[in-house]
Amino acid sequence: MMHKISMFGAGYVGLVTATCFAELGNRVFCYDTDNEKIDLLQRGHVPIFEPGLAEMVARNVKKERLSFSSDAQQVVTQSDIIFIAVGTPMADGGHADLTDVREAAMTIAKHLNGTKIIVNKSTVPVQTGDLVATLIDEYRSGGHSVAVVSNPEFVREGSAISDFMNPDRIVLGVPDARTGETMRGLYAPLGVPIVLVSVRTAEMIKYTANAFLATKISFINEIANLCEAVGADVKDVVAGAGSDHRIGTAFMQSGLGFGGSCFPKDVTALTKLAESKGVQPRVLRSVLETNAAQIDVYFDAIVAQFGDLKGVPLALLGLAFKPNTDDVRESPALALARRLLVKGARLSVHDPVATDNARRVLAGDVRWCTDVYDAARDVRALIVATDWSEYKELDFNALAAAMSDRIVFDCRNIYEPGELVKAGFLAIAIGRGHKRHERRAAQHPVEKV
Ligand SMILES: NC(=O)c1ccc[n+]([C@@H]2O[C@H](COP(=O)([O-])OP(=O)(O)OC[C@H]3O[C@@H](n4cnc5c(N)ncnc54)[C@H](O)[C@@H]3O)[C@@H](O)[C@H]2O)c1
Repeated sequence: MMHKISMFGAGYVGLVTATCFAELGNRVFCYDTDNEKIDLLQRGHVPIFEPGLAEMVARNVKKERLSFSSDAQQVVTQSDIIFIAVGTPMADGGHADLTDVREAAMTIAKHLNGTKIIVNKSTVPVQTGDLVATLIDEYRSGGHSVAVVSNPEFVREGSAISDFMNPDRIVLGVPDARTGETMRGLYAPLGVPIVLVSVRTAEMIKYTANAFLATKISFINEIANLCEAVGADVKDVVAGAGSDHRIGTAFMQSGLGFGGSCFPKDVTALTKLAESKGVQPRVLRSVLETNAAQIDVYFDAIVAQFGDLKGVPLALLGLAFKPNTDDVRESPALALARRLLVKGARLSVHDPVATDNARRVLAGDVRWCTDVYDAARDVRALIVATDWSEYKELDFNALAAAMSDRIVFDCRNIYEPGELVKAGFLAIAIGRGHKRHERRAAQHPVEKV
């Protein structure tokens, strides 16, 4: 069945969700308070990088299933199901900032022209569904009734479209059985399991999922630091321990730690929610503390190698918080870059798609490069800060020829240190158990300038 849907927020989640619902045959109206964004979309430009998205937007606009508007009244009145997919950034003090959710709810309320389902897709603390329902009650025009649903989103930037189309499950927190059936019908074309729960439980599921994944990353980073201290290889440890089906190997990649627009703010918000309810979030606090300290681990390794960083030319590969996205929000790569710049390092930086976004937030002695080998020119070390696939396939000989000194800091554990050593590099990675081998190689560099 075709539904008439409107999407409040045309950011990563809103635009992907709107486009995918259109692709499934629904009529979708996308609204955003950012007029510039809507203007771009109306002129056929997709303002974010997400594999496959631009083509899918164009296809659905052409078929008149997807449109963009700055007119809230128009989108609300034309739809039966209204999604809220606005940002919920971290407020001062760590709580989730619900300003945009409140504003969206009030705008929807003002333009109600009939019975509607309001679906909260933004990641929000438990009881935000109640807040949205209260605001709608307070500001609504006429006596139209609404049902407020929680439908948290689990897509990952970089694979958002395939994640949306092939999710492990759909979580629906609904206030009544009838709304549950309508929402079930909306997602029926995906043919995936649906977890139908109360609104508060659905809100809790999203935070639990993100907090658990972040916990796995901090956990394996702590293990990697310990592997470094005892000469064990964390990759082999993950393979060995993770082959136990109770543990698994997903999200067990040690490195610079997690970033992005979700994990840091969501774990922090959950910590604050727990504190406000009188529950001690001991695990969650440690997850954040360990993550912040991972930048120090790699920064200290770089300082240990060079001593004074003043004037030291270094190439930093990767600026996005993870591969396949241009998103640099809370990027550990940028955090490391800033630390190095403060100490006087001269950075040449590269990222396949995130350079424009990074330019807006990274200042200092930075040379912006569009080619990895150009970034490597005359630098003393290469620092791999984001695990883009293309960095896994670099030509070590060409790099060696470009660099003035052959050192690689593999902050994402994408290389086998032995391979780098064979190519004449000093390979520095945390917890790879090759320490002595690397140090020997370091004493006999092939050609130091
Ligand atoms: N980015 C992800 O990978 C991801 C994944 C799952 C969940 N989430 C959650 O989804 C939500 C949205 O995240 P995002 O990354 O898409 O954010 P975003 O910043 O990319 O997009 C939010 C959009 O909402 C718009 N907006 C703000 N106030 C508005 C209003 N009152 N009416 C209409 N539009 C408004 C903004 O202009 C912006 O375009 C957040 O709660 C986030 O935690 C994000």
